[in-house]
Amino acid sequence: MKRQRLYINIDHIATVRQARRGNEPDPIEGAAICERAGADGITAHLREDRRHIQDDDVERLATSLTTDFNLEMACTDEMLSIAERLRPREATLVPERRQEITTEGGLDLTRDPARLTEGIKRLNAAGIRTSLFISPDLETVTAARKLGATAIELHTGAFAHAAGDPAALEALRDASRHGASIGLAVHAGHGLTVGNVGPVAAIPEIEELNIGHSVVSRAIFVGLAEAVRELRKAMDDARAPS
Ligand code: PXP
Repeated sequence: MKRQRLYINIDHIATVRQARRGNEPDPIEGAAICERAGADGITAHLREDRRHIQDDDVERLATSLTTDFNLEMACTDEMLSIAERLRPREATLVPERRQEITTEGGLDLTRDPARLTEGIKRLNAAGIRTSLFISPDLETVTAARKLGATAIELHTGAFAHAAGDPAALEALRDASRHGASIGLAVHAGHGLTVGNVGPVAAIPEIEELNIGHSVVSRAIFVGLAEAVRELRKAMDDARAPS
């Protein structure tokens, strides 16, 4: 099976820094450690409230990364302008609510399709691979294609929170198969850990995983490089021929 890309989300390195509003730990230094440990890309979410990643962070990531940069963002004019200027390899559009602790659900593609279409058009025109963070639902996958996205990122939260639920895993498998069959690149993420990543990593159509919180949490005990290597191994083991 083709090697699956591992993108590490470094938001929570910035969360620790913002607890003291200082310079440490520096998420860009963290990104470099992740790259050296085998990450294929770095993901960062510049939230509208700037609760963790700051503007200066994305500026520095855009010029310092040696792997791919995936900028996670809401589909707003401000964020689109930043993406157009920085030209990350990839932009993942996510829903954003100020009070949420993390991105709780996928995008509602029926809510403002004109705004999404316009956003995707702007990103595509800038040569950025555009991904939509959506629930693993067949109709939503079809809608993402119609809106002009290059890729979808399937929200794995339902699977992660109901560990081992066969229905949640089946939904991810069906959505992945459907997405790939209509020409979308399929990514996945949210709530994945070394312990639960196996069944998702084993879905052949999923090209890329975005994993953040569990890596930064684990890094407290074993260090960031080792936390990345553990994940890489769990993904590779899951895709190895049995
Ligand atoms: N993918 C997207 C689109 C996300 O919003 C997040 C959370 O920021 C992740 C992946 C990573 O989720 P986690 O931090 O739970 O691994």
